[in-house]
Amino acid sequence: MKLTVALPKGRLGQTAWEYLFSPWAFPFDERKLSVENESVRVLWVKPIDVIAYVKMGAADIGITGLDSLQETGSNLYQLQRLPFGHCKLVTARLKSDTPTPLEKLKVATKYPNLANNYYQSISQAIDIIPLQGSVELAPVIGLADVIVDIVETGSTLKANGLQVDSEIMESQAMLVANHARYRFHQKAIQALIKTRSNAYAKTD
Ligand code: PRP
Repeated sequence: MKLTVALPKGRLGQTAWEYLFSPWAFPFDERKLSVENESVRVLWVKPIDVIAYVKMGAADIGITGLDSLQETGSNLYQLQRLPFGHCKLVTARLKSDTPTPLEKLKVATKYPNLANNYYQSISQAIDIIPLQGSVELAPVIGLADVIVDIVETGSTLKANGLQVDSEIMESQAMLVANHARYRFHQKAIQALIKTRSNAYAKTD
């Protein structure tokens, strides 16, 4: 039976493809959302949806970020931390802003659960402004006091006049599996992990 793999569109996607499937050429574009051969089917979905596909058993394994895994609190089998996709979840505000204690902070984020946990841990009351992207814009136009978002190179923060306040967590790409599907495909999955880790180590 074919192994079904869910890969994340976006910044992790191409590296995730190369990690698992190079030297096969990267096959996806705006419209192409799945490819398959006789032994594997690969689905191309949003990083957060990788978790849903694997959770529901529609994919046997997937690659997503530790940040998305923790945000959704999903009980997936975490097979391996992968050697790419390193970034940090941070709080950030306008550089020009002088932080004054606020009774309630307006926090724009794609990570409402992680943001809530963090601000609870420092006893700061917040209102979440849930956004799906371009989060850095929120403080610039006065929609939020701070953001909770991913920083990789720091260029997006810089380009929008923001700076990091606090680091919440470090993230990286993770190989995850559905518990039941893993038992079924254990040999194939372990073989894939072994070959790909070795191949990656050689090209590193
Ligand atoms: C992510 C993140 C930041 C940016 C950080 O967004 O939400 O906006 O990357 O990267 P940098 O530190 O290298 O500049 P993404 O590119 O995934 O797009 P989005 O704004 O649509 O979420």
